[in-house]
Amino acid sequence: MSDSNRPRVLVARRVFDSVVQRLAAHFEVEANDEDTVWSKAELIARLQGKSGAFITGSERIDAEVLDACPQLKAVCNMAVGYNNIDLAACTARGVLASNTPDVLTETTADFGFALMMATARRLAESEHFLRRGEWSKWAYDMFIGPDVHGATLGILGMGRIGRAIARRGHLGFGMPVIYHNRSRLAPELEAEVGASYVSKDELLAQSDHLVIVLPYSPESHHAIGAAELGRMKSSATLTNIARGGIVDDAALAQALAERRIAAAGLDVFEGEPKVHPALLSVPNVVLTPHIASASVRTRLAMADLAADNLIAVLTGGSPPTPLNPQVLSG
Ligand code: GLV
Repeated sequence: MSDSNRPRVLVARRVFDSVVQRLAAHFEVEANDEDTVWSKAELIARLQGKSGAFITGSERIDAEVLDACPQLKAVCNMAVGYNNIDLAACTARGVLASNTPDVLTETTADFGFALMMATARRLAESEHFLRRGEWSKWAYDMFIGPDVHGATLGILGMGRIGRAIARRGHLGFGMPVIYHNRSRLAPELEAEVGASYVSKDELLAQSDHLVIVLPYSPESHHAIGAAELGRMKSSATLTNIARGGIVDDAALAQALAERRIAAAGLDVFEGEPKVHPALLSVPNVVLTPHIASASVRTRLAMADLAADNLIAVLTGGSPPTPLNPQVLSG
């Protein structure tokens, strides 16, 4: 039933019906059933009169959007990464922002490990060969590549997802694990996932399989570029499940084409959903469309958590995973 006194919220992308219905029990909901990715101007137009927004990583909330929508009180991201939100601008305007940590950790680590394995064992390249009808005989060196078990697993960025990947490598595959991070883990956490802290240069030089799990920020922009790729082993693989922009895609495509590293696995891209054309033409790369958290259970948990945050902020409760909780006490 429509009640004009209820807060109005925007659900900026298509999402589970059950989640929209939960929101509709509290709010007047404007949904995006067409699943259009709106321009900034369209987003601003849709946000007029809305107290809250359920968004995904595709919607950018910056000072311009916030200034054009002064009634906005909450922006709840269905993603753990929140580089699409200008957090300082939200805080300065008293807008609560939230993300979806924890619920996606294990699912995302599963995918990161799978992508790393697919990359090392040349799954996509060999499948494309078979589909092209080029498989005429067995050969001892057909799609030969590096091992995963026992190889050195390198992790750049050692948050929750990095640790979950490290644990898989350490316990399941007997991999020595090395990592680099802004801050070093406590010794008991290092021991739990069998990981040793090294400098970034050591990480690049020693990893057989390097997995990127850093948050994206101006500081991590092109953390892996031509110089870093040049420090890696020519037999090494690189997997990025974090964010486009952390890896310089043009430099990576060139390194792959020249076999300066063996292969790469990429779930995220600079300027996605566009993919650098040079990456599409090199064979030694596995490309997936930003799906690392895409299990049914986890995507539902993420959507429910974003909705929980939105409901809490707009009904006077405590949001479970706020990014700037200080706005609630201000
Ligand atoms: C996905 O990329 C996320 O940040 O949740």
